[in-house]
Amino acid sequence: MSDLVSVVFGREDIRRRIEELGRTITGDYEGRAPVLISVLKGGSMFLADLIREIGLPLSIDYMALSRYGGAAESMGRVRIVKDLDEDVGGRDVLVVEDIVDTGLTLSYLISVLESRAPASIEVCTLLDKSARRIAPLEIRYRGFDCPDVFVVGYGLDFQERYRNIPDILAVQDLSALVEDPDLLLPYLPAGGRPVAAEG
Ligand code: IMP
Ligand code: MG
Repeated sequence: MSDLVSVVFGREDIRRRIEELGRTITGDYEGRAPVLISVLKGGSMFLADLIREIGLPLSIDYMALSRYGGAAESMGRVRIVKDLDEDVGGRDVLVVEDIVDTGLTLSYLISVLESRAPASIEVCTLLDKSARRIAPLEIRYRGFDCPDVFVVGYGLDFQERYRNIPDILAVQDLSALVEDPDLLLPYLPAGGRPVAAEG
């Protein structure tokens, strides 16, 4: 592809894996009506595709979190920017994430949700960067184990961009992308022509 990026998980691999996850979840939760909670914004694409592979009367809800500073300095302290609409007390909760990296964000979220007394709480993440885990976490469902590289696409962003790349790309040269954030435009759908200059 290039020295800059490579496809780690292509759209067809992602589609097939989500189909499998959906089938497993459908079987595991038979007779129940779980609430799937997505953490904005990255997890929303995965949630949208996942629920269409689950044959259960489920509901969905969203939460937005923001971390104080970087992982190390924040020590996992996270602020709730947008809370759930529904009460999860007594419900079977499945948290749906795009990627679990250090696990600090997710372990905070789980402690918040546990304090609301759900019937059960499990995690489904598309990508697991297990090599970087700081906070111990039990992950019931994982799409793929992710190599310890910066990835973008399928919901994952670089500076809020590129969530709409259909494949998941590994960025080999992150400093080049920091230098020129336009470098991944060719990987957007239809070749991602840059925004035209006015006039
Ligand atoms: P954690 O608290 O370190 O597990 O943070 C997880 C969050 O960091 C994810 O929900 C992503 O928003 C972000 N993140 C971690 N690794 C990557 C990556 O490789 N690309 C894009 N975002 C990432
Ligand atoms: Mg995220």
